[in-house]
This record gives sequence, C-alpha cells and structure tokens, in this order.
Amino acid sequence: MADRAGVAVSTLHYYESLGLIESWRTPANHRRYDRRSLRRVAVVRVAQTLGIPLAEVKAVLDRVPQGAAVGKADWQAASEVWRAEIDRRMALLERLRGQLDHCMGCGCLSLENCPLYNPGDALGAEGPGPRRWTEAVEDAAGS
Ligand code: FES
Repeated sequence: MADRAGVAVSTLHYYESLGLIESWRTPANHRRYDRRSLRRVAVVRVAQTLGIPLAEVKAVLDRVPQGAAVGKADWQAASEVWRAEIDRRMALLERLRGQLDHCMGCGCLSLENCPLYNPGDALGAEGPGPRRWTEAVEDAAGS
C-alpha cells in the first residue's frame, strides 16, 4: 500500500490514526488496506499539496463510507470548497504582499504605523497601556 500510494508506511499509520483510512489485521497480524484506500490517500496528498488542513480533509472523507471509493462527485464537491479557500488565501497573501512592499526598507515595526506588525492598531485606538491585561484585571475584579 505504501509503495502504491507513494508514501511512507509511517504516513499510512498516521493517516489511519486520524481516521482518514482504515486497515484490518490478518491472522498473522499483518496490516491490510482495501484497495479503495488508495484514492483516499490520493485525496489526502493532493489536499496537502494545496495546504488544506487534515481536519478539513477528514471532514470531506467522512462523507464517504470507509470501504467505498471516493467518487468523482465527492472529489468535485471537495475541490469546490478547497478552491474557495485557496482563493481566499490568495487574496489575503496579495494584500499582505502589498503591505510588505510598504514595509520594505522601513524596518520600523511600529505598533502604530506598521500594517504587518500591528494591522489596524485596534487596541491602540482604545488608549495607551496593556489594554487586554487591564480588561482582564477589571473583569476578574467584577467591575
Ligand atoms: S516596518 Fe515600517 S511600516 Fe512596517
């Protein structure tokens, strides 16, 4: 299975521990996988290439019963969701790249002005000092 899937045996065990694939034991205590698990591993590998967290991959694979093949419709549904996530990340990265251009050569890392170090300075607008600490202390005192 590891050879066919192109992953390490330990990777298969890890995927199994996460519930992404299942195996069974032979009477000689050898681990066996259903051949349909190959498609599950393929989906996991593609998703990892795209940077999709394994928890999200599991949510997709949980919709397909173990022992059933991941079908074209399953793959299309997953890829639509992941495409939207990739689009969201790309937009975020493009925005961050623009802000990085602003910071290049600056190096101030100002809490008030640097859009990467402290975007929006939301807490600074509330006043000086350790705002979260002050709020936590006030909350604990019941005021
Ligand atoms: S480092 Fe100066 S604005 Fe970001």
